[in-house]
Amino acid sequence: RTKRQAISAEPTVLDPSQLTDVTLKSYSKSKESSDLIQRALMDNDFMKHLEHEQILTIMDCMHPTSLTKGCCVIQEGDDGSTVYVLEEGTVEVTKQGKSLCSIGEGKVFGELAILYNCTRTATVTALTDIKLWAVDRQCFQTIMMRTSLIKHSQYTDYLRSVPSLRSLPEDILSKLADVLEETHYSDSDYIIRQGATGDTFFIISEGQVKMTQQSSPGDEQVMKTLSKGDWFGEQALKGEDVRTASVTAVGDVTCLVIDRESFKQLIGGLEDVNNKQLDSDEVKANLQAEADFFSSVS
Ligand code: CMP
Repeated sequence: RTKRQAISAEPTVLDPSQLTDVTLKSYSKSKESSDLIQRALMDNDFMKHLEHEQILTIMDCMHPTSLTKGCCVIQEGDDGSTVYVLEEGTVEVTKQGKSLCSIGEGKVFGELAILYNCTRTATVTALTDIKLWAVDRQCFQTIMMRTSLIKHSQYTDYLRSVPSLRSLPEDILSKLADVLEETHYSDSDYIIRQGATGDTFFIISEGQVKMTQQSSPGDEQVMKTLSKGDWFGEQALKGEDVRTASVTAVGDVTCLVIDRESFKQLIGGLEDVNNKQLDSDEVKANLQAEADFFSSVS
């Protein structure tokens, strides 16, 4: 699951309205360097949750730099302005004069002050001559904020188009867009399992899912197929937290997932969601009407 909220976008440093003015400069690099940077970003605990597109854009904007043995790359306590990926050589990380570790090629460093808007948490010194890829704070923040603003507006537009949610006020839709997480599944993946505990609500944004229920072992019945704009998982959020049916992906599926607390606060009162009976004709008719609606607009 992607964790969009994990990264601070440092809005006090960069006003979103300035984003359109920032031009992201890209620097050409060899395939080896591009791969090394991508791997380094995806391997870093604080950056691996970034969207793939963000990783590619950060990689694209990184410029080369080099320093000789003994140079101080980062000084503990300074305001940070750059995130680095080490391409060649070794650096040592120290804190209050004590060595914490050494870092070799293919690793990210200097990310903490930029991600969390704090001063440099440690000193980093070149143990050998080093080659680095660097991206500055403004560029990094622009990438982070641009993607999240675009995503936020896409999510809000999408939620507004879901018939069951369209009666929600704009500010609630916007809050939902803030808290939801986008998740991806491949064919036959279980999205929820009957009998498991669950505390999430799902809205399908792409693809189809199959809902099945087992009344006795080996007797699994397909209840229905749901598609774009449909939702499921609400039963376990009301009263019992046990999933009443299994839901599996049919082909590639993208869902927008909302946690129990947000569901209760933002959606819980909605008639449409509360009155859904899993197998009633009325709901089938509603689902069909929703499906028709979506096929007419897409
Ligand atoms: P930042 O605080 O921006 O600048 C110093 C960098 O040193 C920091 O980001 C991390 O990349 C790195 N760093 C800090 N503490 C450790 C640690 N305990 N182990 C490895 N790297 C660290």
